[in-house]
Amino acid sequence: MKKSFLESSTEGISLYIHLPFCESLCTFCGCNKRITKKHGVEIPYLESVLKEWQLYLELFPERPIIKELHLGGGTPTFFSAENLRLLLKGIFHHATIAKNPLFSFEGHPNNTKREHLQTLFECGFTRVSYGVQDYNSTVQIAIHRLQPFANVKRTTETAREIGYTSIGHDLIFGLPFQKMEHVIFSIEKTKELMPDRIAFYSYAHVPWIKGNGQRGFKEEDLPNAAEKRQMYETGKRMLEDAGYIEIGMDHFALKTDSLYKAVEEKKLHRNFMGYTESKTQLMVGLGVSAIGDSWFGFGQNSKNVEEYQELVEQGSFPIYRGHMLNKEDLIIRKHISNMMCRLETSWEGASLQFKELPEVLSKLKEMEDDGLVEISSEKLQITEKGRPFVRNICMAFDVLLQRSKPDTQLFSMTI
Ligand SMILES: C[S@@+](CC[C@H](N)C(=O)[O-])C[C@H]1O[C@@H](n2cnc3c(N)ncnc32)[C@H](O)[C@@H]1O
Ligand code: SF4
Repeated sequence: MKKSFLESSTEGISLYIHLPFCESLCTFCGCNKRITKKHGVEIPYLESVLKEWQLYLELFPERPIIKELHLGGGTPTFFSAENLRLLLKGIFHHATIAKNPLFSFEGHPNNTKREHLQTLFECGFTRVSYGVQDYNSTVQIAIHRLQPFANVKRTTETAREIGYTSIGHDLIFGLPFQKMEHVIFSIEKTKELMPDRIAFYSYAHVPWIKGNGQRGFKEEDLPNAAEKRQMYETGKRMLEDAGYIEIGMDHFALKTDSLYKAVEEKKLHRNFMGYTESKTQLMVGLGVSAIGDSWFGFGQNSKNVEEYQELVEQGSFPIYRGHMLNKEDLIIRKHISNMMCRLETSWEGASLQFKELPEVLSKLKEMEDDGLVEISSEKLQITEKGRPFVRNICMAFDVLLQRSKPDTQLFSMTI
């Protein structure tokens, strides 16, 4: 951590703050969240986050420069604007803000108020992403998220009025009871607002994750793999026809958005917060379940709010698991990052030698035979046909996964 901090002393660090509370449970949600209507939880939680930040400040040899900051959740806009201001004041008090900082947050269209947008803008935020998912009422009832278009329109237009330069909408395909016509309708409605970025996620059905609340529908209510594939293809075509460019995995951006410019300038990066145009080596994760990344290792905080707060109160880092990357992990990490951001990776350069990884080579050969990748002596290129399978192609590089589950059918998962 210290080594990474010192190596980041000019570029600055990234900070992710997890704000887990939501007033109502969406039954599709795979994020770490705590459902409550009691807003008395806000202040004690924020105090814990600031105490955790203090632990990092004691560790850092000098005042940190914050380049990138993301408030994720849960629902950051569950917190009052005033409390978010207190949190940020506490964070910034001991830090310097970099030039042209990249500050963003996740807003829920049902509860993002003008005060949230205004306060966060005054604190340096210029980017917001809203969870939209789908506009059809049958789907919205199934996922327990009634969210009128008017709310998304209001929060999108208010953010624009205030001066936000990048507004994103999250859409999902593959939700329970979702049909092709619903995906088409949701994209048509989205086009009325033309957000700068669109995340077009495949629904991840992970009911085995404890407490994630994916219930209220049955497996057979979900579209099958072929239907999901068609939804993705149709959605992609509609977004491209509307002027959006597909970026890496799951993301589309207008040519005026900084994410597209980052692709053009080959400056796109990916970290635990998602795609970004800034390359910071050190990412500090604060809050329950947050992940920190020093490039050489990861650590994840306790996923339980009470345990997280208790550990911080005791003056301990609330990290419950972590992994230090060895030489092989670092090589794999670099390849995966290249493929996710640039759809290609090069074998050139001492740090990228992968010929020592025969398991990877044999998996990639299968993919080459299927026309998903092209492999030469210099590099691997993901083809247009392979684009929907970037995740699966990256999984082929995950030697540890291959070693623990050598028969994993990488293609059975389609998208
Ligand atoms: C933390 S939520 C967004 C902020 C806010 N809580 C809201 O719901 O509007 C982040 C995004 O993750 C995506 N997401 C959550 N669960 C998912 C799942 N099971 N599969 C795919 N995407 C999911 C949704 O698109 C959601 O908007
Ligand atoms: S989708 Fe957003 S609001 Fe719904 S439960 Fe998940 S984090 Fe909370």
